[in-house]
Amino acid sequence: VLVTGGGGAVGGAVCRLLAAEGWHVVVADRRGDAAERVAEQVGATLPPGAIVDTVQVDVADPDSGRVAVVARTGRIDALVNNAAVQHRAGLEELTVAQWDDAMAVNVRGPFLLAREITPLWRRQGGGRIVNVGSRVWTAGGPPAYVTSKAALVGLTRSLATELGPIGVTVNTVAPGFMDTPFTTGRLAAADAAALRAQQSTISPLGRVADVADVAGAIAFLLSERAAFVTGEVLHVAGGAQMAPIVRTPAPPSVTRPPATTGAP
Ligand SMILES: NC(=O)c1ccc[n+]([C@@H]2O[C@H](COP(=O)([O-])OP(=O)(O)OC[C@H]3O[C@@H](n4cnc5c(N)ncnc54)[C@H](O)[C@@H]3O)[C@@H](O)[C@H]2O)c1
Repeated sequence: VLVTGGGGAVGGAVCRLLAAEGWHVVVADRRGDAAERVAEQVGATLPPGAIVDTVQVDVADPDSGRVAVVARTGRIDALVNNAAVQHRAGLEELTVAQWDDAMAVNVRGPFLLAREITPLWRRQGGGRIVNVGSRVWTAGGPPAYVTSKAALVGLTRSLATELGPIGVTVNTVAPGFMDTPFTTGRLAAADAAALRAQQSTISPLGRVADVADVAGAIAFLLSERAAFVTGEVLHVAGGAQMAPIVRTPAPPSVTRPPATTGAP
């Protein structure tokens, strides 16, 4: 299984769980050092002989994706498209470069890797794709990120129809907010805690998602139990996908920082 963004928070949890379940994991990340770190951690927990590989790859780059898939693995049974970037700018601040970057990494990347691997799957007689989306695809929020994650659902459904006849299932896992470098990495501790607390109130279950929740859903979609599930979006958001993300400007009489867009 090739896990893109495997050097990150969710990706690392996915690699750990899948390796423990017996998968030969390839940790793929733009940050080669992060991929190596995850591979070392995962490798330390495995029985002797179990394999964890790494590959440095920018999923948005067609040549890089080719190297990742063909040169390093030769065989591949599953692809987890987890690498992503987010630009939180609202419509009037968003630059064309940010828009293009979100589309290149979050949408073009999964397309390129799927296209690269499909000939292998024709020979192997099937495979699995799990895309990591976000609850924002139903809930709204910042335009570049939300549009990219909604497009990923479109790609999921397109590939489910196109690749079904060769035995490939294609699904999306759509998490709610998680406390990872993606969301709170650049915030001061107090701001991160406030954001976490605010996001916890959105879910009827009263907490934010954990990376293990998401890893578990991905492992399910890769398992035999999900053999007849395709074209699906599985929210792992504690119900938060039912709540819209609304930008609420502060009332003029109150002095406080601009409300977060709750980007994830
Ligand atoms: N954290 C959240 O609240 C949240 C919520 C919903 C969905 N998600 C989704 O979960 C996934 C993982 O997020 P995370 O929280 O683990 O973030 P993270 O920042 O910890 O991990 C993302 C990883 O992707 C890698 N990456 C970025 N661009 C890349 C590229 N072009 N090529 C290869 N690798 C690249 C980064 O180096 C990083 O290791 C993303 O798809 C994100 O959209 C996150």
